[in-house]
Amino acid sequence: MCGIIGYVGEREMAPLLINGLKKLEYRGYDSYGFCIKDGDRFHVLKKKGRISEDESPLKKIQGNFGIAHTRWATHGKPTEINSHPHFDCKKEISIVHNGIIENAEQLRKMLEKEKHVFVSETDSEVIAHLIEKFYVNSLEMAVKKAISLLDGSFALAIICKNEDCILAVKRGSPLVLGVGKNENFIASDVVPIIEYTKKIIYLKDEEIAKITKEGIEIKNSKGKIIDKKIAEIKWNIKQAEKGKFKHFMIKEIFEQPEVIKNVLRGRIKDNKIKLTLDINFKKINRIILTACGTSWHSCLIAKTLIEKYAQIPVEVDYASEFRYRNPLVSKNDLLIAVSQSGETADTLAAIREGKKKGAKTLGIINVVGSTISREVDSGIYLYSGPETGVASTKAFTSQIMALFLFALYARQEKKCKIDPRLINEIKKLPEKIEESLGEVKKIKSIAKKFVDSSNFLYFGRGINYPVALEGALKLKEISYIHAEGYPAAEMKHGPIALIDGNMPSVFIATHSKTFSKLISNIEEVKARGGKIISIVNKEDKIARKCSDFAINVPRTIEDLSAIVNVIPLQLLSYFIADMRGLDVDKPRNLAKSVTVE
Ligand code: F6R
Repeated sequence: MCGIIGYVGEREMAPLLINGLKKLEYRGYDSYGFCIKDGDRFHVLKKKGRISEDESPLKKIQGNFGIAHTRWATHGKPTEINSHPHFDCKKEISIVHNGIIENAEQLRKMLEKEKHVFVSETDSEVIAHLIEKFYVNSLEMAVKKAISLLDGSFALAIICKNEDCILAVKRGSPLVLGVGKNENFIASDVVPIIEYTKKIIYLKDEEIAKITKEGIEIKNSKGKIIDKKIAEIKWNIKQAEKGKFKHFMIKEIFEQPEVIKNVLRGRIKDNKIKLTLDINFKKINRIILTACGTSWHSCLIAKTLIEKYAQIPVEVDYASEFRYRNPLVSKNDLLIAVSQSGETADTLAAIREGKKKGAKTLGIINVVGSTISREVDSGIYLYSGPETGVASTKAFTSQIMALFLFALYARQEKKCKIDPRLINEIKKLPEKIEESLGEVKKIKSIAKKFVDSSNFLYFGRGINYPVALEGALKLKEISYIHAEGYPAAEMKHGPIALIDGNMPSVFIATHSKTFSKLISNIEEVKARGGKIISIVNKEDKIARKCSDFAINVPRTIEDLSAIVNVIPLQLLSYFIADMRGLDVDKPRNLAKSVTVE
C-alpha cells in the first residue's frame, strides 16, 4: 500500500505535496514524510501519524522539486525513523517506496558487510543503499542495477543531490505520471494530481521515467526511449471531495442512486444489453469469480445471477487462495476479477495465474487505467467516480449491477430471451435506492440504541446471505465491533448459542422464496431473548411484527434485492462508527488499496 507523490515545476512545493498526501491517505496513514530538493540541499521532514494532524512545519520548507510518501506499515513499526523517504549513507539519494521487498533481509546483510549503515527497520531502506552502491555518475544506471537485485514489488520515486530530475520505476505496484506545462508529476494514482492535470501516463513494469520540469523521458527495460500514450482523465476534482457531507463514506452511500445510473448508462437499449466483450460464450464451460473483501461478496451474489441467467457453472474464490492453490484452469474457463481499485495485489496475481493457465480474463473495475484493467482481455468499468472512504459502499452496489448486466449479456449471447419485466425493474433501481436512503433518520435512532454493543450477528438467505456478510464487514471495519454474517439456516448449527439479551441480530427479511423459513429463524432468536433489527419491505407485516426494530426498503425482485437491502446496513454501520467518535473514512490498520500481499 502506501502513497507516493513527486513534483517538479514552478509551484510552491510544500502545499502541493501536503494536499497530495492527504488525498493519498486512503492508501495508508501510519506516518508520512517529504524530501524537497532546494539547489544541492535536501529539506527533509518525517513524522509519525497522519499528515492532517500536524502540517505547520512543512509550510516553511522552500523548493520546487521533491518527493513525499504516506505509509501503511509492513516492515517495521509506524515510527518517524521508519517513515519515508529513506536515504543512503551520505544522505545524497532519497527514495520513497510503495510495495514489499521480499529479499530485503539478504540485501541488508550483504550491504552491511560492505559497511552500509542502516537506520530503520524497513525493507525500503535497502533500495537507497543499493542505489548508492552502484552510483558512479548516473542515477539512472544505478537505479537499473539496484532494481535488478530486488525481489518483490515496488513503485519508486527517487531523487539525488547531483541530478535535477526525479526517477520513477515500478514492478507490481502502481505508478502514474502527470503531464503538465512546465511541470510534471508522479503519483500512486491520479487522485492527488487531477486538480493540476488530466493528462496521465500509466507506467508499465520495468519502464524507467526521468521526470524534469521540461518533460518526461521513458525508457523500456532494454534502455530504448519509448513513446507512451497520454490518457485523458474524464472525472473532476469535485467528485473526489466531500462537499457538504461529514465523511466520504456517507457521501458515497448517498451517491448510489447516481452510481447505478452511471453503470447502466448506454448499456441497455431496446431490451438488449450493450457490452463490448471479446468473449465467445459457446467456448466457455465455467466461470471463476475472484476478488477480496467486499468485492468477494459481490462475486458471491454474482454466482447466483450468472448460474441462473447465463446457465454457466460458476466458482467463487478468494484471490489470495486462488493464486497459491495451483487451481485447475483451462482455456475454456473465463476468470473474472472484481476490484474497485484495480490494484489489489492478490486479485492481480490471481488474474496473472489464470492467464498463465490459458483462461480468458475479464475485469469488473472502477478505477480507469488501473493495473488489472490493463491486464485483462476485456472489462466492464463501473464509472462510479473515486471511492475514497476505506469502507467500500458505492463500489459494492455498482459491482453487483455490472455483474448482473454481464449475466444478462451472457444469456443474450447464448440466444436466450431476457424478460422485459426484469429490465423494467432494473431501471427502477435508482429510485428504490433513494427510498432506502429515506430511512436515514430511523436508522440513526437505531444506531444510537446499539452504539455500545460489543457483538452483532447478521443473517440472510440466498442472494441476501452475502449481504449479511457485507453488513457484518462494514460494521467491524469501521466501528471495531465484532460482527459475523451467516446464512440464516446455519444459525441452529452453532451461532444460536451466542444469542442472549446483549446480542443484536440483524435479519435481511425482505420478500424471497425462503421468507417463511427466515421468519422461523427470527422467532428462534426472539425466543432466546435476542434483540432483532430487520430489513423489511414497506408493505410487510409479518417480519415487522416479530422484530424489535424494522427498517423499510422498497420491494424489488429477489435477484435485485441485494442492491436495495445493503443500503440500510451501510448506514447503520456508518452511524454507529460515527457515534463512537471513530475516524469513519480511515479506520485503524486499514488502507483503501491493498497493493501488498
Ligand atoms: C471493505 C473493503 C475491502 C475491499 C478489498 C478489495 O469495505 O473495501 O474489503 O473490498 O480490499 O479491494 P478492491 O475492490 O479494490 O480490489
